[in-house]
Amino acid sequence: MISFENVTKRYGTRIALDEVSFALDAGEMAFLVGHSGAGKSTLLRHLVCLEAPSEGRVMVGNFDLRRLSASQLPMFRRKVGVVFQDPQLLPDRTVYENVALPLKAAGFDRKVIPGRVNAALEQVELSHVVDALPGELSSGQRQRVGIARAVVHKPALLLADEPTGNLDPELSKKIMKLFTQFRNHGVTVLIATHEQALVEAQPFRVLRLDQGRLVESG
Ligand SMILES: Nc1ncnc2c1ncn2[C@@H]1O[C@H](COP(=O)(O)OP(=O)(O)OP(=O)(O)O)[C@@H](O)[C@H]1O
Ligand SMILES: [Mg+2]
Repeated sequence: MISFENVTKRYGTRIALDEVSFALDAGEMAFLVGHSGAGKSTLLRHLVCLEAPSEGRVMVGNFDLRRLSASQLPMFRRKVGVVFQDPQLLPDRTVYENVALPLKAAGFDRKVIPGRVNAALEQVELSHVVDALPGELSSGQRQRVGIARAVVHKPALLLADEPTGNLDPELSKKIMKLFTQFRNHGVTVLIATHEQALVEAQPFRVLRLDQGRLVESG
């Protein structure tokens, strides 16, 4: 589903990723760990075409990201969902509208949108706050809206960058459980996290970066 082939990323003289190679199968779930500045976010940004490698190749499904044309980009984006540490919801839109936004942007048929949005909100147990504004929610609830927004288009690949960074341990566990459920439905999941305890509590593969080098790949 994902492969990095000898990927090096340089920013000037600084090396953020150093000859990174690994592959993740469809339906696999893995954690991406490493110290601050190790290159976790940089690696994830490559998978959504926000960065391009200085050297090497990144593949997602059949897409060679070096060769992705402008016309393929929308199709590629439909394959991938991303959860950020700060979900950056639109403050003047309701929970429902925030989650519906990517479907509207991707040109989904208007008739299918309510069903998809409500199903995504149900999965993250937020059906009771569809009409609330983000400012009226707790940070854990906002984080779950961010997850609903990331999965509402049913991506084959789900990426998360420190999705539990601001949350208490109970909520972190709940969110990890959600990711596991997506994975049980066949979604490939890659989660960057600092939280060693969470990683140790799970049976999934660990990819460890140290100063841009992949030093452990499960
Ligand atoms: N746009 C950029 N320009 C220059 N250097 C960058 C840029 N993005 C990242 N870097 C550098 O690349 C390295 C890896 O950064 P990255 O953000 O990927 O680390 P990280 O593992 O996500 O860290 P954290 O756990 O703190 O989020 C760091 O040395 C960082 O300074
Ligand atoms: Mg980071």
